[in-house]
Amino acid sequence: MGRRKNSNKSSTSNNNNSSTNFDHQVTNMSVDDGDFEETMESSVFDDSISEPDETLLGSDQTSADYYFDSYSHFGIHEEMLKDTVRTKTYQNVIYQNTFLFRNKVVLDVGAGTGILSLFCAKAGAKHVYAIECSHMADMAKEIVKANGFSNVITVLKGKVEEIVLPIAKVDVIISEWMGYFLLFENMLNTVLYARDKWLINDGIVLPDRASLYLTAIEDAEYKEDKIDFWNNVYGFNMACIRKQSMMEPLVDTVDQNQIVTNCQLLKTMDISKMAPGDASFTAPFKLVAERNDFIHALVAYFDVTFTKCHKLTGFSTGPRSRATHWKQTVLYLEDVLTICEGEALVGSMTVAPNKKNPRDVDIMLKYSLKGQRCQVSRTQHYKMR
Ligand SMILES: C[S@@+](CC[C@H](N)C(=O)[O-])C[C@H]1O[C@@H](n2cnc3c(N)ncnc32)[C@H](O)[C@@H]1O
Repeated sequence: MGRRKNSNKSSTSNNNNSSTNFDHQVTNMSVDDGDFEETMESSVFDDSISEPDETLLGSDQTSADYYFDSYSHFGIHEEMLKDTVRTKTYQNVIYQNTFLFRNKVVLDVGAGTGILSLFCAKAGAKHVYAIECSHMADMAKEIVKANGFSNVITVLKGKVEEIVLPIAKVDVIISEWMGYFLLFENMLNTVLYARDKWLINDGIVLPDRASLYLTAIEDAEYKEDKIDFWNNVYGFNMACIRKQSMMEPLVDTVDQNQIVTNCQLLKTMDISKMAPGDASFTAPFKLVAERNDFIHALVAYFDVTFTKCHKLTGFSTGPRSRATHWKQTVLYLEDVLTICEGEALVGSMTVAPNKKNPRDVDIMLKYSLKGQRCQVSRTQHYKMR
């Protein structure tokens, strides 16, 4: 492995931005003195630089604005659009099931660049309302216009919870709301809000099913590198940071060869019926070892399904599937578990939005192993933020 980084969907693009800027600075600094002076001179004395076109830049956003609203920057949309597992699945769902969209009024919840609205318009929707709260809404308006769909797609800039829709009801709601660990960012509640307010009685929500899974992995190398590193940093004890690093689930890709046990379904959500409170739950698990090995972490991942398609369609973010930008979520265990083939690690996982910041997710893990070579029983707390 060795490619992990602790990130979230919102901050990924910030990380990318800052590293791009940093690279740029390094390039400037590495020129020899003569070149450097020349660069300085031209930037200090050149007053012929005209004001940048605000519409081209999208807005007068500062880096501080992007920190709080990373969806305004194109970088995060680029990452999502280039996730072909994600975007092509939505495209296939829409293009191969035009009967769901033809002459229908569609609501795109959190439209971003407007890609899903464009797919729906192309599939024959009567009208698409695309709601987007970030400044990307301005770009979505331009994109809709540039592609000749202004008469079919209306982009509305604002929060779903605050917007006034020009019509009372819609036939279809489509959204890509899933966060890391499925529930991080809590955008699901926004979809449920839109569903309860605007969807007709026999209307459909796409996707309409999401499931969370758990498995266990051997991960000695990475646990050493990310967690135990803090025990001895250049000869100093920084174990207080180790405690924090243990509490933050790590978002990264896991090699399927690291999987030691079966994969257990924790929770399935029916987006067309569930209540907002159903995203908080406690689910039991039983992970049975498929070989003798050590367990360092549990790994969570999800899949989503569009059950209303002519043929069941969806995708998985699991370690045995093609990688997506959601990767997997790794929860390190305090103990290294020595497990023998056939033995079971049993316990429960409790998941709930954080009370102070509902976009963060609190996770409580209870587990116990009563094996031949290892007996452990423990409760651990994690926070996705
Ligand atoms: C995961 S992105 C998906 C963007 C686009 N639909 C796509 O598939 O590429 C979710 C988008 O929803 C927007 N969003 C999140 N919460 C929202 C809310 N309450 N109201 C309006 N937009 C929201 C975000 O700004 C972001 O652009």
